Amino acid sequence: MSNTQKLLTLAAETSKNAHCPYSGRAVGAAVLATDGKFYAGCNVENVSFPIGTCAESGAIAAMVAGGSRKIAEILVYTDGPKPLLPCGACRQRIAEFADPKVLIHAANSDGIRQTYTLDELLPHCFSEF
Ligand code: THU
Repeated sequence: MSNTQKLLTLAAETSKNAHCPYSGRAVGAAVLATDGKFYAGCNVENVSFPIGTCAESGAIAAMVAGGSRKIAEILVYTDGPKPLLPCGACRQRIAEFADPKVLIHAANSDGIRQTYTLDELLPHCFSEF
């Protein structure tokens, strides 16, 4: 199985654990780090809506806690007709740990539907101060 296929399987599995009683949109994200380790996260909503967290945020937090520091590839999964691309805040979170050419996949139960580089999703990003 290819690394991209593993990301798809992992993200889809993890989306089943999403806590999404308010939007009803279960999302899973899976990260492959450059050291070969895989990490996953799901969205965790809250009755205080703005403090809910995205799947990518959880996957990146797991990656950092697991000791990895660089993203090689990332995939976001949601079951539904429209694949979901990372929100603006998550694009910035990815940029903290990824090179501009890193691939970001959006998938649903039909498989991978869209693939972009980080640079395409977050051009001219804020990267230093
Ligand atoms: N969501 C993610 O998990 N990742 C994104 O990139 C965008 C949106 C979640 C947040 C919320 O729980 C639900 O999807 C609907 O917006």
